[in-house]
Amino acid sequence: MRLLVTGGCGFIGSAFVRMALARGHEVTNLDKLTYAGNPANVAEVADHAGYRFVHADIADADDVAGALKGVDVVVNMAAESHVDRSILDPAAFPMTDVVGTAVILDQARRAGVARFVQVSTDEVYGSIAEGRFRETDPVEPSSPYSASKAGGDLQALAWHRTYGMDVVVTRGSNTYGPRQYPEKLIPLFVTNVLDGEGLPVYGDGQQIRDWIHVDDHCAGIFAALERGRAGEVYNVGGGNERTNLEVTERILEYTGASRDLIRYVADRPGHDRRYALAAEKLHGLGWEPAVNFGDGLAATVAWYQDHRSWWEPIKSGEYRAYYEAQYGDRGAADR
Ligand code: NAD
Ligand code: TYD
Repeated sequence: MRLLVTGGCGFIGSAFVRMALARGHEVTNLDKLTYAGNPANVAEVADHAGYRFVHADIADADDVAGALKGVDVVVNMAAESHVDRSILDPAAFPMTDVVGTAVILDQARRAGVARFVQVSTDEVYGSIAEGRFRETDPVEPSSPYSASKAGGDLQALAWHRTYGMDVVVTRGSNTYGPRQYPEKLIPLFVTNVLDGEGLPVYGDGQQIRDWIHVDDHCAGIFAALERGRAGEVYNVGGGNERTNLEVTERILEYTGASRDLIRYVADRPGHDRRYALAAEKLHGLGWEPAVNFGDGLAATVAWYQDHRSWWEPIKSGEYRAYYEAQYGDRGAADR
């Protein structure tokens, strides 16, 4: 297949691009190269005969139309992706995650692509105290990020209903692995430990996330792409619920660092307490997560230990300004 992957210089996108090329597909990677887009993430495939890079914004209809020539399937992963940034400054989120998604959906429709895969998130469902979210549950997003993602996700389903376009939506759970920008919980805490810095745990640290390895997430997107039914949503859940404190303690264990690095800081506003996904529908397509959490997390910690040259340049400049705004005068947690 000839795939157009957007956001392929990001964390999940770059893993998906590598997986697609390894499976023999041709890939055009369209990426705006925001702060989170890093060409180093795809450096090892840059000269692959089946790979092409287009530096563009998914909200630019002309650039998208050009990149779509000869494409069979679109996998739309480009997004503003971080909840805390969406709380500090939401403006960019609807521009990419809502407007950009509408633009690329419509250009893909006009180009007559065979399938459009919208990569969404479990966060569109909001928080769940007990049980697990199913694909039929209503969306009830809490943050500016998840509200924008819900907008993109619902538009994709609307393009199916209105235009009969072949659209599949995946809703993935919290993803971890190599090359994740060090603003999200796991890479932030791993790199802070390696720098001897504190670990800012929000609130009581008892919030629960359903963690999935990036390779399992990408394989789940492939299963939905290849075998999903048009107009359907597929949860891509790891079936691996952990409290944030448990994840933090594992990182301390794998790095041999002290618990003294833990700092309980003021909670995130609108913080979802628990995410949990029922992924049986995707299991029905023959997909199961394969990476054990302990093994995957230990390997991820080792990757950051071995790749300081990847993350040290990131943790300067714009990142320091973000870090100061996000954590600078954050008070202690009210636990
Ligand atoms: P990321 O922030 O690491 O990467 C996003 C990429 O999109 C970057 O390369 C960036 O340059 C690019 N981009 C941003 N705006 C763009 C635009 N307007 N046009 C073109 N490119 C643009 O994100 P990620 O963590 O790899 O997430 C990828 C996708 O998966 C997102 O849609 C996200 O919502 C979804 N998702 C992420 C997780 C997670 O835990 N990281 C979980 C579920 C779903
Ligand atoms: P994050 O990686 O931002 O993913 P999401 O908000 O999309 O789930 O956060 C994962 C969990 O970790 C979430 O409950 C918030 C918490 N967290 C902290 O406690 N401290 C931090 O510095 C960060 C970034 C997250």
